Amino acid sequence: MAEGVLDLRREPKDRAYAQLHAQFIGVMSGIDDDVAAMSTLSSMLHHAFGFLWTGFYRVVAHDLLRVGPYQGTLGCLEIAFGRGVCGTAAAERRTIVVPDVNRFPGHIACDARSRSEIVLPVVNKRDELIAVLDIDSDRLARFDQQDAAGLENVLRWFASPDRG
Ligand code: SME
Repeated sequence: MAEGVLDLRREPKDRAYAQLHAQFIGVMSGIDDDVAAMSTLSSMLHHAFGFLWTGFYRVVAHDLLRVGPYQGTLGCLEIAFGRGVCGTAAAERRTIVVPDVNRFPGHIACDARSRSEIVLPVVNKRDELIAVLDIDSDRLARFDQQDAAGLENVLRWFASPDRG
């Protein structure tokens, strides 16, 4: 692992997310910028946990997501609200954990190696939905409520009144 890159794959999840959160807050100190935060978080999560695809889809119209900062192979460019896991999480503004993507009706397969997935809404300080965070794994049932809680906590940065 390169210097400064966390390896959290063998840590208990609660400690892993606490460490990741602390590093993220430190790296973002003095920076009040959504795209910088999305890029930083994609890189940190992807390399610390060894995910397959890690990144953001941004809300660019009232019912449309467009790919934002990410790590991994080429992601699909646009997703309508209500379509796939990302579009459903955006439309319903809730975290969705998918233990087996083949059992999620309408799942959009950007990478055939993806077996499980978690998607979380990202809201700003005005409580507006600005994006979703999508993480894919090549392992079945990789994500659970601990991942949801840990990631939701990190994503609170985007709504924090005193960020940056
Ligand atoms: N699987 C997602 C699509 C995005 S990619 O996997 C990068 C979905 O069903 O929303």
